[in-house]
Amino acid sequence: MDTDTTLKHGIKIRHPEFDFKSNIPQYWFCDNPVITHNFNGYNLLFPEFERFFVRSVNYFRSQIHDPKLLQQVIVFSAQESLHAQAHEDYFKVLERQGYKIDRFLRYYKRYALMIERMATPKLCIALTAAAEHYTATIAHIVFTNPELFHGMHPTMKKLIIWHSAEEVEHRSVAFDVMKTVGVNYPTRLLAFFMTSLDMLLWSTLSTLMLLHQDRISLLKSFQFKRQFSKQFGSIKRQMRQSLLAYIKADFHPDDINDLQQAHKQLKEVGINE
Ligand SMILES: [Fe+2]
Ligand SMILES: [Fe+2]
Repeated sequence: MDTDTTLKHGIKIRHPEFDFKSNIPQYWFCDNPVITHNFNGYNLLFPEFERFFVRSVNYFRSQIHDPKLLQQVIVFSAQESLHAQAHEDYFKVLERQGYKIDRFLRYYKRYALMIERMATPKLCIALTAAAEHYTATIAHIVFTNPELFHGMHPTMKKLIIWHSAEEVEHRSVAFDVMKTVGVNYPTRLLAFFMTSLDMLLWSTLSTLMLLHQDRISLLKSFQFKRQFSKQFGSIKRQMRQSLLAYIKADFHPDDINDLQQAHKQLKEVGINE
């Protein structure tokens, strides 16, 4: 049974349980290996990402004097830590399905730590805010395209809805911390482009690594990708538009509000809103 803890300001810490021991199909997303491994690939990146977000935001805790934002930082950190743990638990599903992921994870961890060591704390918070824009955009796609979930295994649907809903809830926290500590617009832009390159590089590498283990050729992969694009062609356009909104100087994450939809879907998968 799910338990939850209500905290102030509309963001909540929840402790849903996921039945990762159940029989999750190998290609659980639209029966399509490329789309499934794209999500599996993101899944491999999330724990490192999210622990980095928590460190970046908490570095500036002593400079946050707005009690509301401070409270949000606390809940943000708890939500991200729980996301990281849930995605790490999912690693076992991939291993049970026969995938070798340790080497990839080692390389990715080494790379992520190197970036963190080289970046200033202000660049780190700007990278976090940009990455949070990515996760909130993915959440927006999730909540505006419910047909993506038709026939999806309930455990995976629950994992995606829960994570997406909390990304919607805390979408502005890192951005507001970044503003509070005076990160300028060029740094914000630089971080957005660095994050975009990072996402593209590592999500492509992780997807290809998993497809390679399935012995699926590049040509076959393109065919699966095209099949998905035919089914859900508008998603790519929607994603591009939402992502690029970040480069407007007056952008704020709360310009988009999916909260009602997020909470409705949380309820549908049996998690308290
Ligand atoms: Fe998250
Ligand atoms: Fe997040």
